[in-house]
Amino acid sequence: MNEIQYINWWIGENRTRESKDLNIGGVTVRVNKDVFTPDPAMTNSSLILLKSLPDLEGKSVLDLGTGCGILAVYAALNGASRVTAVDIDPNAVANASENVQRLGLENVVEVVQTNLFDGLTKKYDLIIANLPILGAVWNDLTGPVSKVYERVLSEYNRYLEQPNGRVLMGFASFGDLDTILGMISSAPHLVAKFSEQKFGVEWDVFEFGAWAED
Ligand SMILES: C[S@@+](CC[C@H](N)C(=O)[O-])C[C@H]1O[C@@H](n2cnc3c(N)ncnc32)[C@H](O)[C@@H]1O
Repeated sequence: MNEIQYINWWIGENRTRESKDLNIGGVTVRVNKDVFTPDPAMTNSSLILLKSLPDLEGKSVLDLGTGCGILAVYAALNGASRVTAVDIDPNAVANASENVQRLGLENVVEVVQTNLFDGLTKKYDLIIANLPILGAVWNDLTGPVSKVYERVLSEYNRYLEQPNGRVLMGFASFGDLDTILGMISSAPHLVAKFSEQKFGVEWDVFEFGAWAED
């Protein structure tokens, strides 16, 4: 498979899937059919991020674009002390809230419907961002996908604990390599990259650090 074949296959599978319980990373979540599925049989974007997570004991975590809430609830079940899970899509917010409730994590995970950082006031040890990758699939909901990345890269520092806060951001080789990957790769506080091949696609996690602002 190459990137184009993967995307066409994914679109077909996504159109016909039903809501189901999914076990990923040892956690079972409900994934509604109108919300992105982190199913490792269809994508590697969620699993590669789960595998890249540092020790979460006592950490505060912001999950940007939470979808069904998988990364947020995983963080809470693996020691995070507080988690904020945000999504712009009300269907995702409802699905993530359902999973938080099913897993009894209401005291740790707060689910918020918002556009990226809008209205957020706290700082976090870790920001996880598995955001839309392909404009053809997501532009209707988010506006241009490149703008989402531009905003995250220019604003994340305000929401990170200093000096050791970290961002883990996913991307893949079917995304806009010229604009978005270019922006990510040239970001001044990029500290590491982790990649895997699956479905004929390169899946990446980029790690960014904090910086001191005047
Ligand atoms: C690829 S899905 C990932 C979902 C989840 N993190 C996972 O790994 O399964 C991207 C999510 O980002 C959300 N999203 C897109 N643009 C957003 C924005 N501007 N602010 C907040 N969430 C956004 C989408 O609604 C979608 O749920």
